[in-house]
Amino acid sequence: MQPARSCLAIVLAAGEGTRMQSRTPKVLHPVAGLSMLGHVLSSVSQAGADAVAVVISSERPEVGAETLKLLPSARIATQHERRGTAHAVLAAREALKAGHGEILVAFADTPLVRPETFMALRGALAGGAAVAVLGFEARDPNGYGRLVEHDGKLEAIIEHKDATSAQRKIKLCNAGLMALAGEHALAILEAIDDENGQREFYLTDAVAIARSRGLDAVVLKAPESEVQGVNDRVQLAAVEAEFQRHKRNAVMLGGATLIAPETVFFSVDTEIGRDVVIEPNVIFGPGVRVADGALIHAFSHLEGATIGEGANVGPFARLRPGAKLADKSKVGNFVEVKAADIGPGAKVNHLTYIGDATIGAAANIGAGTITCNYDGFTKSKTTIGANAFVGSNSSLVAPVTIGEGAYIGSGSVITSDVAPDALAIGRGRQFGKEGWAKTFRAEAMARKAAKKAAE
Ligand code: UD1
Ligand code: CA
Repeated sequence: MQPARSCLAIVLAAGEGTRMQSRTPKVLHPVAGLSMLGHVLSSVSQAGADAVAVVISSERPEVGAETLKLLPSARIATQHERRGTAHAVLAAREALKAGHGEILVAFADTPLVRPETFMALRGALAGGAAVAVLGFEARDPNGYGRLVEHDGKLEAIIEHKDATSAQRKIKLCNAGLMALAGEHALAILEAIDDENGQREFYLTDAVAIARSRGLDAVVLKAPESEVQGVNDRVQLAAVEAEFQRHKRNAVMLGGATLIAPETVFFSVDTEIGRDVVIEPNVIFGPGVRVADGALIHAFSHLEGATIGEGANVGPFARLRPGAKLADKSKVGNFVEVKAADIGPGAKVNHLTYIGDATIGAAANIGAGTITCNYDGFTKSKTTIGANAFVGSNSSLVAPVTIGEGAYIGSGSVITSDVAPDALAIGRGRQFGKEGWAKTFRAEAMARKAAKKAAE
């Protein structure tokens, strides 16, 4: 087998995106918790790109910053004027000159293209084509470039605005992505001019130019759902829905039960084990891992959390970043957990806030317990030993340590450390008077009767 040729991916992210009606650049809007740009960077990297150049507009430096955060090795190229897709690709001229064997062009506002699809375009180049184009059968071809074929060969791409009425009848459209053989890429791109109705440098002209030089151009087809782009927030929601549909299927095929899949929302990086059951209306923010056999009850919201084997969560639980639930632990209804380790078999079942804490194995945290972790300036830690029992409605004022096997009386405000196996009660002492209520009622009723008689 021949070694794969080195591949440069050029990601176009200089779009205006005004239809988003947003202060945020279009390509930084998230799909399943990751920017659209992030999806594309990840996809081209997985497709084996050895180098990545991202073309941004000089008005949107944030796009460059996000790129470097996600992929520090990326090269940022700036397009100062929007003069078309070929002009944008040539903004990365320095990267193009590095002599890569293959050039992939991707759009940052088309986030669902799979690595396999980019790999298939590379495969077409390996098969001898100078240009490989990704096409799709459009339900509504309006606005798209049309793929003009002759004798089974791709001849040209004609932009909708420049197409004749006969060409506009063609349903096979250009998705925008393209792969170019490195040895011809720069020469082809530099031959593209702006002699069209829009006075733009069309990347799509690469096809006709390659053909005029006796080189081959081919089309690969993708489903429309994979190549849909985002120009406004309605399309953003459509792309999100498509992503979620795929992810739910992948999670279910991986061995998890989703009782009402259409009500469960995942992030790109959510990891769900086998025999996990997820009830309706659960949201997974970024960074969640759920081990085998866990049960996530309805209406829970998880983010940056790790759930151990056989653990139980919810209903109505909120797990925030740094929540780590060990095997067989339980976090119940109306419980919030942040930056805390919940030990194996420990139970935090009702109406509780656990933040900046460590809870030992098999400890029991009663209803309404609060770790008071914040004094308005700094966060402090609560440590609860294994097998400890915290009575309901206790406030644990951090920093504080409760020893293994200790007992805390209900309603306590605990401000000092509690020794292992000790009892601590921190509340007003109860006092009582025999018969007091009876006397009180009799006197009150007599006063009321006297008042009525005087009227
Ligand atoms: C492009 C294709 C069209 C295809 C369609 C698919 C060309 C000439 N046309 O048309 O055949 O059917 O995509 O959606 O390629 N960009 C820049 N700088 C520019 C111009 C564009 O960075 O000067 C970027 C945009 O941010 C976007 C991408 O290139 O990510 C496509 O540009 P856009 O103007 O949306 O192209 P279309 O007219 O939709
Ligand atoms: Ca477009």
